[in-house]
Amino acid sequence: MNKDMAALPTQPDTALCDIRYTAGISIIVPTYREAENIPHLLRRINRVRKDTGLTLEVLFMDDASDDGSIEAVATSGFDWARIIVRDGGRGLSPSVIEGFAAARYPVLVCMDCDLSHPPEAIPKFVLALHTGQQFVIGSRYVPGGSTDDDWGFFRWLNSFIATVLARPLTTVRDPMSGFFALRKSDFDTARGLNPIGYKIALELIVKCGFENVGEVPIHFSDRCFGDSKLTLAEQLRYIQHLRRLYMFQFAGMMYLAQFLVVGASGVVVNLSILSLLFWAGLPEWLCFAGGIGVSLMTNFLLNRRFTFSYARHEPILRQFLGFASAALLGLVVNYAVALSLRMSVFEEGAFALQLSALTGVAAGMGFNFLGARYLVFRKRFIRK
Ligand code: GDD
Ligand code: MN
Repeated sequence: MNKDMAALPTQPDTALCDIRYTAGISIIVPTYREAENIPHLLRRINRVRKDTGLTLEVLFMDDASDDGSIEAVATSGFDWARIIVRDGGRGLSPSVIEGFAAARYPVLVCMDCDLSHPPEAIPKFVLALHTGQQFVIGSRYVPGGSTDDDWGFFRWLNSFIATVLARPLTTVRDPMSGFFALRKSDFDTARGLNPIGYKIALELIVKCGFENVGEVPIHFSDRCFGDSKLTLAEQLRYIQHLRRLYMFQFAGMMYLAQFLVVGASGVVVNLSILSLLFWAGLPEWLCFAGGIGVSLMTNFLLNRRFTFSYARHEPILRQFLGFASAALLGLVVNYAVALSLRMSVFEEGAFALQLSALTGVAAGMGFNFLGARYLVFRKRFIRK
């Protein structure tokens, strides 16, 4: 996990002089319809370049915006700026990854084009990498960081929830920031990057397992021109991305956690069907059977689709029979454990009966889980 996450101490300005000897930095800017912002961003980066003597390049990774972005870069007059127009599908994270791969300098910086991220903070990023950090984030949520005042409640709440959901993955305060730096050598050794949507920094922190992540306070301004591309669909994709990262980080535990969530949903299904059939006037024995049968099926389908999704292309009927048998055996285990505990360990006491039953339930569920995980939804290793 990431330790040493505190905000970096403010460096004396004289220290910044040293970074001009840095071999060079590549600033990757993903763009989609940002023609208006490009000249402003380049002008501000140029000022940083002049003030610090940094060697740098700016690489716009554009998704065929066709809005004059190419011309904006060409007429800027800066030979250290170039634009790569991608022609695959649109996507923020993939364009950043491609940009990192195409970069020519040993330090990589990623930033937005809309002037939300102040390029003036970049020298501090470089300095932090020099002084031992592996990954540096421009952060709104460390002392000294801020956002423009007109962030509505919902934007704030949205950002807050997204950050809290990422908390088990990293203790970084602002993992959602799209403004960060790392070494190209670290990026080049990263394997299995598979980000969807916007959260490329989070992906890198988790997948690369960086030990030292520093946060430099920044002021996050509202965009200058154009509109945000962060849609609702993009935010839903974040949930999908989080699930993947959780799987990566806590592989074994995640199977159990999802299995338990599905199990809980089965209880709800069972009770709903039972009540429904009862209202329809069916005899009670049939209501019970209906509740059990339907919840067994929904549990099976949900586990197959989500918990053990790696096995969802295997023959379904065989899996279902296996799942049902495991559930049946689980009941037997439940019963046997409860009964034998009652006769040996929990012989007396206020809640001895309930305690025996609960342990039985846990044992039955554990049995079900292991059966499902290792027998029914088996992992097949296919070597190409
Ligand atoms: N190549 C490419 N393809 N670039 C894209 C795409 C895409 O599909 N979508 C967006 N971009 C570019 C934009 O042109 C901009 O330069 C940058 O990515 C960020 O997009 P915005 O549309 O400005 O996003 P935002 O302001 O809503 O989100 C920013 O702030 C969030 C925190 O509030 C980003 O920095 C997020 O990463 C960050 O989480
Ligand atoms: Mn923006």
